[in-house]
Amino acid sequence: MNVLNVTEAAEARRAIRKYTNQAITDAELDEILRVAGLAPSPWNVQPWRVVIVREQVDKEKLMEASFGQPQVGAASVDIVLYSDMEDAVKTAQEYIHPNYGDAIEAEAKKQQDTFQSWEPETREQWGHSISYIFLGYLLLALKSHGWDSSPMLGFEPEKVKELLGIPESATIPAIIAVGKGAEEGFPHHRHPVDRIRRYFG
Ligand SMILES: Cc1cc2nc3c(=O)[nH]c(=O)nc-3n(C[C@H](O)[C@H](O)[C@H](O)COP(=O)(O)O)c2cc1C
Repeated sequence: MNVLNVTEAAEARRAIRKYTNQAITDAELDEILRVAGLAPSPWNVQPWRVVIVREQVDKEKLMEASFGQPQVGAASVDIVLYSDMEDAVKTAQEYIHPNYGDAIEAEAKKQQDTFQSWEPETREQWGHSISYIFLGYLLLALKSHGWDSSPMLGFEPEKVKELLGIPESATIPAIIAVGKGAEEGFPHHRHPVDRIRRYFG
């Protein structure tokens, strides 16, 4: 398969809300998730988790919890991206680099103590914002592997959590509808660099 490089994928990706009925396989999706999981995070915490919704009946329930946005029901799969800092902190030993060797336990304890000293809301907000790095990688990885997507914030988090059994303490940065595009999408309309960049000094 011809994989697009990062610049090609960024240029080609658009929010696509209509799809053909071509299905993405679990194996393709796992490879794309592996690539997205190469996203960096502070301390390598990787607070992101995903639920894949594939059955039509479930996609329709998810669509209902997403203000009826039709791309949720039309997608090959919907990826529900959530941040679970409770799980991340509890299992810190898993994400700490093996290079720490005998110091893994001590490093895990240090990080766990730090996270536990934070207000739960601060901790969740921290994980939530970091999970957007994964989202960026995911959208590019999908396009790079030939799949279109529509990221969404238009949904009711409490309804989505209840439907999918996502822990109450978790947060949901986005739902991503995935499929082969059956529309072009809009040409990019972005600030020129001059509008977002200034030099200091
Ligand atoms: C985090 C996030 C949430 C979004 N939420 C929605 C949404 O709920 N519904 C929708 O139709 N588009 C949604 N979009 C798509 C944006 O409108 C779209 O990405 C933007 O207009 C730029 O267009 P492009 O992606 O085609 O370049 C969302 C995009 C992002 C990144």
